[in-house]
Amino acid sequence: MSTTAPTLVDRARIRELTEREQRRFDASTPKSSQMYERARRSMVGGVPSSYQSRDPWPIFIEEGRGSRVWDVDGNEYIDYHNGFGSMVQGHAHPAIVEAVQRQVARGTHFAAPNEDAIAVSEELARRFRLPMWRYVNSGSEATMDAIRIARAVTGRDTIVKIFGSYHGHHDYVMVSIGVPFANIGDPDDYASLPYGAGIPKVVSDMTIAVPFNDAAAMERRIQRLFDEGRPPACVIMEAAMMNLGVVPPEPGYLEAVRELTRRFGVVLIFDEVKTGLTVAAGGATERFGVTPDMVTLAKAVGGGLPAGAIGATQEIMEVVASDKVKQVGTYNGNPLTMAAARASLEQVLTSAAYDHLNALDNRLMEGCTRVLREYHLPGYTVGIGSKGAVTFSPAKITDYASFMANQDAELTELAWVWNMNRGIFMTPGREEEWTLSVAHSLEDADRYVAAFEEMAQALTA
Ligand SMILES: Cc1ncc(COP(=O)(O)O)c(C=O)c1O
Repeated sequence: MSTTAPTLVDRARIRELTEREQRRFDASTPKSSQMYERARRSMVGGVPSSYQSRDPWPIFIEEGRGSRVWDVDGNEYIDYHNGFGSMVQGHAHPAIVEAVQRQVARGTHFAAPNEDAIAVSEELARRFRLPMWRYVNSGSEATMDAIRIARAVTGRDTIVKIFGSYHGHHDYVMVSIGVPFANIGDPDDYASLPYGAGIPKVVSDMTIAVPFNDAAAMERRIQRLFDEGRPPACVIMEAAMMNLGVVPPEPGYLEAVRELTRRFGVVLIFDEVKTGLTVAAGGATERFGVTPDMVTLAKAVGGGLPAGAIGATQEIMEVVASDKVKQVGTYNGNPLTMAAARASLEQVLTSAAYDHLNALDNRLMEGCTRVLREYHLPGYTVGIGSKGAVTFSPAKITDYASFMANQDAELTELAWVWNMNRGIFMTPGREEEWTLSVAHSLEDADRYVAAFEEMAQALTA
């Protein structure tokens, strides 16, 4: 990571460029606009998930191959969105296509175990250093079941999370994320604020948030929860935050969290839905060398099919093995998903693939850092494995509060539409990062840097 000296960027110029680029983008996506008009008559908001919404209309994607996607207007993009960070294998990877085609012709659902599920479990156990695995169909299911297991293991109800971290859309964790910054309160006593309507207060009150990168604050809050007679069952966290751009753990932070959770008898869950299989073969667990008690996976684990997985120690999974906790689901370990996951683990996400992803990420970070420096833009680049971001901020971001105080949301918005107009498909939203795939080339990375440099020139002209 490197920082540049803070520089003031002309706000009027940012807005002028954003408006110009938005007009250009609207003009190049008329079929998406028409599809949206049709979609909104029968699909709420014209999208299957509210996270796919966009003003004035979402971009409808028709096809993906390798590092590229095409929208319904025929615009070609290099995909840095990659399905919210799921498609680290690239689109329609031949090994995954072959595995899915083979299985689809042999039946797609039995609700019975098969050999692929064993092979996937064996490989995940090796990579994440946790011996026992179970399957679900999304990241939300994985975190929901993991928390229930932790509660059963400890006999406690309260849970601790990091303020601003997203762990899926169930009630336990739709708390203290994406909420009005003014209402979050003191870091030693963050409010438990529901994210959207319909979440019972009794549930959100059981979820306690603490700041990222502050083990002392976590320790104080856990101690207080003990003193108040409501000790926590678990700490659920991302080892590197992936929804404030990318925020890595400060040196020693994860080790301190590991030590204190062990001392308090609190289950440590690394939510690796985004980091697992993208930042290293064994996710953040391998990358940072700290092994939690449980890991949750989704996104990249399915090779492009809906999937989720929970890994844990033998001792923890005993509550599932003994049927004390009902860890269930009709489509868990679905044969298509397991075929894709196995092909992905055995043939695509090899150690050579991670060498390639690291090389690509470095190329992007070096290029973007050079542009930031040359044009004196306020920001820095940060990346891990296939993940990374240009963070427009005059100061280093270490947690939600520093993100909200420093991130330049207007520049981030301009960068998104600027990229889209230059064939770079980025995840929308100020919280997001890029995800590279094994199909990306160094030339693809250079295209990203070139588009960024063009924006820097326009901003500073
Ligand atoms: C860290 C993390 N956990 C859980 C989830 C939820 O996953 P899903 O959308 O598959 O339910 C997400 C989704 O973005 C995530 O980023």
